Amino acid sequence: MHDLPLVISLDRTSSTNSHLANKWRKSGGLLPPFLTVVTDFQESGRGRLGREWVAPTGTSLLASILMPTAADSSPLLPLAAGVVVLDLVQSLLPGRDVRLKWPNDVLVEGKKVSGILCEQLSPERVIVGIGINLSQTADQLPPVPSTSIALEGGPAVARDLLALSLATSLQDLAEVDPVELRALIEPRCSTLGHRVLASLPTGTTLEGRAVCLEPDGALRIEDLIGGEHIVRVGDVSHLRMSETAPELARQGGRS
Ligand code: BTN
Repeated sequence: MHDLPLVISLDRTSSTNSHLANKWRKSGGLLPPFLTVVTDFQESGRGRLGREWVAPTGTSLLASILMPTAADSSPLLPLAAGVVVLDLVQSLLPGRDVRLKWPNDVLVEGKKVSGILCEQLSPERVIVGIGINLSQTADQLPPVPSTSIALEGGPAVARDLLALSLATSLQDLAEVDPVELRALIEPRCSTLGHRVLASLPTGTTLEGRAVCLEPDGALRIEDLIGGEHIVRVGDVSHLRMSETAPELARQGGRS
């Protein structure tokens, strides 16, 4: 049995990830594991790769959880946290197709409902920041194909309860070894087997088929002439199976 994670609930803050990181620094690194910060509104919510994460007050779950995890910049942790988010979203939307998209999204019927931002604090602490679209209307969502629990017909849920449920599931997940984690992630990840266009940190793109996950969660992509590439950082668009990127660019059909 674990102790229940402590949840700090705020009306508003800059970003729950930044709030938790500041608190951790001020405490000299002495905060309890799985301490969770949740808020109704972020003034400067952050997404991956320097993007912003914006949501009107009270429409999202915006939470950050302090994970006692060894130093590791691999993509495995966001995907593993994604399994926890996916299971929660699936419980709210039974019968819907809820899948992971590499490296950090949860999709409902192919539309983004959640994003995860992991930030390393120290060799043994990582912040797992989770945003889940709860009650946004279509015009409150960003232009990428997105959805919310409400738009998919799901129930209204108390933000603090959801945050506690995520933190408790992450406590259990912290005890799972990487091989088992990969076994949990792979069947839930819609990127695998898909034709993809990966945008890489070098500014280049790579088109091919997502073959499998590497032991650290990196994505193995087979390019159009059979060469294999390991992608650790980047964005991935799912392409329709029959399309190549230039054709797709004309039709605007990515998810
Ligand atoms: C992404 O898809 O780019 C990741 C988005 C992560 C957003 C969450 S909301 C709670 C936490 N605080 C932040 O500033 N970001 C994360």
